[in-house]
Amino acid sequence: MLKFELLTTDPTSHARRAAMTLNHGVVQTPVFMPVGTYGTVKGVMPQSLLDMGAQIILGNTFHLWMRPGQDVMQSFGGLHAFEQWHKPILTDSGGFQVWSLGAMRKITEEGVHFASPVNGDKLFMSPEVSMQIQTTLNSDIVMQLDECTPYETKGQLTTEREARQSMEMSLRWARRSQEEFARLQSPNALFGIVQGGMFTNLREESLARLVEMDFPGYAIGGVSVGEPKEQMLHIMAHTPHQLPQHKPRYLMGVGTPEDLVQGVADGVDMFDCVMPTRNARNGTLFTRFGDLKIRNARHKTDHQPLDTTCTCHACAGQSGVAWDQGGRGGFSRAYLHHLDRCGEMLGPMLTTIHNLHYYLNLMHEVRNALDAGQFAQFRAQFKADRARGV
Ligand code: GUN
Ligand code: ZN
Repeated sequence: MLKFELLTTDPTSHARRAAMTLNHGVVQTPVFMPVGTYGTVKGVMPQSLLDMGAQIILGNTFHLWMRPGQDVMQSFGGLHAFEQWHKPILTDSGGFQVWSLGAMRKITEEGVHFASPVNGDKLFMSPEVSMQIQTTLNSDIVMQLDECTPYETKGQLTTEREARQSMEMSLRWARRSQEEFARLQSPNALFGIVQGGMFTNLREESLARLVEMDFPGYAIGGVSVGEPKEQMLHIMAHTPHQLPQHKPRYLMGVGTPEDLVQGVADGVDMFDCVMPTRNARNGTLFTRFGDLKIRNARHKTDHQPLDTTCTCHACAGQSGVAWDQGGRGGFSRAYLHHLDRCGEMLGPMLTTIHNLHYYLNLMHEVRNALDAGQFAQFRAQFKADRARGV
């Protein structure tokens, strides 16, 4: 089940505000979806995700198939009960993850043969297998199995001919995914994935043929695959707004805060990216006034929180009052710097909470701006703030 209700559209861009109803709840869009590959958003308890305003999180078919496997998942009746997250879940199909295995896999028309990175077992992933696993996971949004067309292979750019072959196979896998999904009588929603590499003509063809198949939602894949930034922005400006107006649009694996705000302007409703969580673990923190590296010695004695305007648990503590509103309840940059120096596990826990809160709050501000008819002003302020520097 999926219901997508458009609430407002922005006259200055392709941005839209919508409410998307899924089996486990309503998602207000535009939305950022934290990544929980192995059935956990690394280092964050589900209650903290709720406190931060997370509405829907990701899981990964491929990883959860390796471990814990289908039998355990079946015994729990799906991923929600297993990971104790009772709001919506989207699972990626495994296409991107299997593709990332590189030399360890062989892609054929039938599917992907590969050796398990966990124990070396010979395994086979096909559109049908992916649908079966995602049905066991009971994810609210299921992704078709696709082939993520690379930007280059061993230094050679993907040619249009190669990108076409790859895109056409993804279309055949879209059909097979759809047929298996129907056969399984899944109560959830299946998304098709637009491919076509960096070729806008191929993107249009992929899009048109997926739209004929009438999916309840569409994703744009094959971006953030090593291409120069301008190319990604070019695809972002080209493709999303051509998708059906009354269905959700999901840009896979993107991106920086700037990419998200631009993506919304380009007509995207849903985003996921490992950047907030992964960067938090590496000590790169996002703030309203630009990015910050907590490892830097300049933070050693700084009493300020990471972001003086942030109300997350790391910056504002239990009171939830931001530093610049008089709150003094949060953790200082000096303390986070110290935790990092000592390799303490609380360090990445707090920085992950902050970075995720930053992304989730950014999208909350985007939704508020759209509701108020102030999106153009919001974008200008966002750019000025981010350029200011911490
Ligand atoms: N995650 C990021 N890009 C992609 C893609 O092209 N396909 C899939 N399935 N997942 C992705
Ligand atoms: Zn914070």
